[in-house]
Amino acid sequence: MPRFPQSMPRINPSILAADFVNMERDLAKIVSADLVHVDVMDNHFVPNLTFGPQMVGRIQDVSQIPLDVHLMIDDPERWAPGYAELGAASVTFHVEASSDPVALARRLRDMGARAGIALKPATNADDFLEVLDEFDQVLVMTVEPGFGGQSFMPETMPKLRTLREAVTARGLDVWLQVDGGITEETITTAAQSGADTFVAGSAVFRSDDPSAAIALLRERAAEHTH
Ligand code: DX5
Ligand code: ZN
Repeated sequence: MPRFPQSMPRINPSILAADFVNMERDLAKIVSADLVHVDVMDNHFVPNLTFGPQMVGRIQDVSQIPLDVHLMIDDPERWAPGYAELGAASVTFHVEASSDPVALARRLRDMGARAGIALKPATNADDFLEVLDEFDQVLVMTVEPGFGGQSFMPETMPKLRTLREAVTARGLDVWLQVDGGITEETITTAAQSGADTFVAGSAVFRSDDPSAAIALLRERAAEHTH
């Protein structure tokens, strides 16, 4: 089995919308997905709190699909390498919290993880266009980070298009991820604007049939991914 899934487009359900006391049961519902999106929040970088390395380590133990860790925390220089150490396939940190995103990404890659940067809705991508090859993923937040169940912000799409143009023009293998308010409707807009990796919390876990929801999201995205 390849370490990183090759299917396109990728659908990464966010376990922020799962039942935290039945995590293993809920992880079993999403085995048809590409990676499991794991939101780490520190009640400081964002006004919400989830879990840390101990919980993520257990998720790593029991998950049948690789982990896509999204760190919404201060001081990622201190904490992010620990998640790579746990074996997470992908570790994404926020540029707003990082003192040197390129240096941190290099450390994560050296540890065998894919290295991602995340941009809040108001954060410009321009500073990172020149150094895109230093990263394996750029996460364009399509809501303000912190909570599930918010509405998709279409005003983030020009930034996504700029990133897609840069990735394509340079022939880079950088995944472009969207996160927040992704539904079977909004996924079309995000795919048309250049996303290839889609996080969905509520749309998957609030569905009666998470596996069918994943399949539908993948189908909708595939119609528009280019
Ligand atoms: C929000 C998190 C998201 C969240 C998305 O800060 O980063 O991953 O779980 O949830 P939905 O899909 O419900 O908007
Ligand atoms: Zn997230």
